[in-house]
Amino acid sequence: MSQQFKLTRRAALAGAAGLGLAATACSREEPSFVPRLPADGPFKHGVASGDPDQSSIMLWTAITAETLDAPVRVELAEDDAFSSILLEAEAAPAAATVNGMTPFKLLADGLQPGRDYWYRFHFGDATSETGRTRTLPEAGVDRFTIAAFSCSNYPAGFFNAYRAAADRGDIDLVVHLGDYLYEYGRGGYAMEDDERLGRVVEPAHEIVTYEDYVTRYAQYGADPDLKALKAAAPWLTIWDDHETANNAHLTGAENHDPEEGEGAWSDRVDAALRAYYGWLPVREPQDRRARYGALEIGDLATLIFLESRLLARSDEMTLDDFPVPLDSDPEDPLVQETVRNWLQARVGGEDRTLLGAEQFDFVIRTLEQSVAAGKPWRIFANQVLMGSATAPDYTKEPPLWLRWGMRLAGGQIWDFARQTQFGVPMTLDTWDGFPAERERLFSAAREANADFIVLTGDSHNFWTVDLKTDGGERVGVEFGVTSVTSPSDYEFVNAPSVDFGQMTLKANPHILHHSVYAKGFVLLTLTPEEAVADFVSVSTIKDTAFEAGLDSRWRVTPALGGPVAEVERLG
Ligand SMILES: [Fe+2]
Repeated sequence: MSQQFKLTRRAALAGAAGLGLAATACSREEPSFVPRLPADGPFKHGVASGDPDQSSIMLWTAITAETLDAPVRVELAEDDAFSSILLEAEAAPAAATVNGMTPFKLLADGLQPGRDYWYRFHFGDATSETGRTRTLPEAGVDRFTIAAFSCSNYPAGFFNAYRAAADRGDIDLVVHLGDYLYEYGRGGYAMEDDERLGRVVEPAHEIVTYEDYVTRYAQYGADPDLKALKAAAPWLTIWDDHETANNAHLTGAENHDPEEGEGAWSDRVDAALRAYYGWLPVREPQDRRARYGALEIGDLATLIFLESRLLARSDEMTLDDFPVPLDSDPEDPLVQETVRNWLQARVGGEDRTLLGAEQFDFVIRTLEQSVAAGKPWRIFANQVLMGSATAPDYTKEPPLWLRWGMRLAGGQIWDFARQTQFGVPMTLDTWDGFPAERERLFSAAREANADFIVLTGDSHNFWTVDLKTDGGERVGVEFGVTSVTSPSDYEFVNAPSVDFGQMTLKANPHILHHSVYAKGFVLLTLTPEEAVADFVSVSTIKDTAFEAGLDSRWRVTPALGGPVAEVERLG
């Protein structure tokens, strides 16, 4: 979670109450949905596949049983009727049993590139549902479709975005950009509707131990919409912060306090990652924190997935470290210089790092190899907004009634609004908190003629950002993927008539689109000639009856060694 601007979360709730505004934007009408009964039986968590390459793929299930008195067998076939079975094998437990639930994984290998496969598991007399999966293609790839998601928060609403994608049937790879689950306990973030929707978190407390994380993974994993998408296509997951704790970094997290009985940070990370590797269809590297790498999508694209939380991320900096008193005159040259120095020397310090040297080198090498191989596309699966986003001056831009509301609310809301007079980033939890490393990445990419598309989660908003070096050279485009269910920071302000997205664009000429309320996903279709990104929105997350629509559609063409073209809007 970033703090987009501090009209957010707990502060906003308090502030909105102070303003006499409703604390949430959602309606209190009774939903029309028919409550779904939780699945039962040994395979209640469904099946999944992930981390594909040209010849292998990880297959996953979990068994819920009092005793594991029979082997768990996998079948993989070339057809969904299983008339041509290619592989039969015994899966192995992927992590320790918790409350009678044990995850199982098997790496299916010896497969053909670019092919559909069907798989299922057997345990005793029980047979799982059938999953469809697909290996990565090798050559002659004329089309590849990625569905990208982020921030799926169970108590906040229904996973309609997953359902909309699962129903399509044309997805080659699901990419989850992080915040696959959230760590909070009851009464925490985004739980205003949990009881009404039948989505109260398990366990009820904040998850800290291995057993806690598994219990939460298991609850999410039994969700019918999530299960449908897992069974429909292979997944690639990267974690952001909430898979451990809010605003996680190398040495701690905003939402981790050893003084409050939460133990050592490294123990919590260890517990969270054991559950992660057990409960998702992922390959496990030697160093569990080092989940970064690249998938080669034949001759069409290289998909680089990043780790930017637990390996090397420098300590959190926030706007609380702001260097001048908030009642300073923003026109005073001395004040301006102090703020500029702070942004350049402290925030922009060369030693501040998101990726760390080893991963950074891997990324540059992979970009260079991709260009050398003549591939038209390079895609990043990235956690937090890569492009810079300067906060609009919230003491001037909103309508008078809202400015007065913020002033009356006082506290963090008004403090943040006053900081925005000085030209600060919206948040320092994104690449804006690590601008030196970002500039090194952009420069190296430009030098390598490696134009790229970035898919980013975290912000709970849709974005289209023109990515440029400090010198103004375009390097690529970023598509910010909105949340599956997590609330937008702007919802907490409850001022739906105010066009916050337009304010963002006005303060940031390189940001072409900022849609602040939509929930959904991005469907990225790659061909050798173009990449088209559909920002798919769902009409509601508070009801299981919904419609999928289009927030906007974007098109990029590959640079192929020439200048990087600007993204164009198609709809
Ligand atoms: Fe999130």
